[in-house]
Amino acid sequence: MCQERGLSVPADSTKAVLADHLICEISPQKLQMPESTSKELPGLDLERLDLVDHEILPEKLEKQEKIGSGAFKDVYKGLYHVSRTRVIKVAICDLRDELTEMDIKELTFLRDLQHENIVRFIGISLPPRPGPVPCAIVSELCENGDLFDYIRNVSPPSDVEIFGILLQISRGLEYLHTRKPMIVHRDCKSTNVLITEHGVAKISDFGLARVRRSARAMIRSLVGTVNWQAVELWSARPQYNEKADVWSAAMTFWETLQWHQPEKRYPFQGMNEHQIYFNVRQKNLRYVQEIDDPICTQLTVII
Ligand SMILES: Nc1ncnc2c1ncn2[C@@H]1O[C@H](COP(=O)(O)OP(=O)(O)OP(=O)(O)O)[C@@H](O)[C@H]1O
Ligand SMILES: [Mg+2]
Repeated sequence: MCQERGLSVPADSTKAVLADHLICEISPQKLQMPESTSKELPGLDLERLDLVDHEILPEKLEKQEKIGSGAFKDVYKGLYHVSRTRVIKVAICDLRDELTEMDIKELTFLRDLQHENIVRFIGISLPPRPGPVPCAIVSELCENGDLFDYIRNVSPPSDVEIFGILLQISRGLEYLHTRKPMIVHRDCKSTNVLITEHGVAKISDFGLARVRRSARAMIRSLVGTVNWQAVELWSARPQYNEKADVWSAAMTFWETLQWHQPEKRYPFQGMNEHQIYFNVRQKNLRYVQEIDDPICTQLTVII
């Protein structure tokens, strides 16, 4: 990406150095971000945003241990005291950046989504200001964590069960793609597929991919997920459709099919971002390595 933008950086630069060059280069104006996304609000009016039903008072949330962190949030296990007699387990995602009114509007569409293979959005909590956490998103807790860890830490189930997980991911994406207006996830990867205590796969972080506002967060996240991403997203002003998710799903399927293998590889493992970019975009590389299993080999051909 640095080369594409004519930035002269040493070929052996680290990811952080390259990301910083890109961040300096890509100003919000160059990214053509809508005016309102760069304007932060001192406080959010959930009532006006029609989100009041989904506001969770901070005192109703009980934060427990941290279960993960990503490019723009820290995730905790927690309890939501819905009423005096009803407590549910939840995931509390503390966003690191402020959200704007525009971001919240983007998030509002999450509340109407309901599908067994989509992580359920429960609500938004605005902790007291000023404070370290500008906004927390509360969602269904998936006890078995993400698929990336699951295939590495849990002994492989039968082929039928593995195919079942692939089907569940497909159904979740199909649901997003058939909404009106269509929702394109843009960041479908194994850490964004979560597994419930019953082993059901659910897609998470749809919507949030659109809310990564700052250039820094966008670049960091791009650097982190390029292995699963379709080439058309590798641009400051990407033009894409639902097929971008089909590519990412295929990468995730290929990764999942290695459950029975002693070494579980992830897409384009061992290549840095420049090599992936060069191989996929310039050299039109479209294959993933073979998997030593007859059924998986056939599926890899389709992938
Ligand atoms: N609802 C949830 N239930 C259980 N675990 C979750 C939940 N949401 C997130 N996690 C855990 O927290 C981790 C971090 O999530 P997060 O989305 O912040 O980062 P990521 O997916 O690894 O990267 P990115 O920032 O690019 O999305 C996940 O990989 C998963 O293990
Ligand atoms: Mg995620």
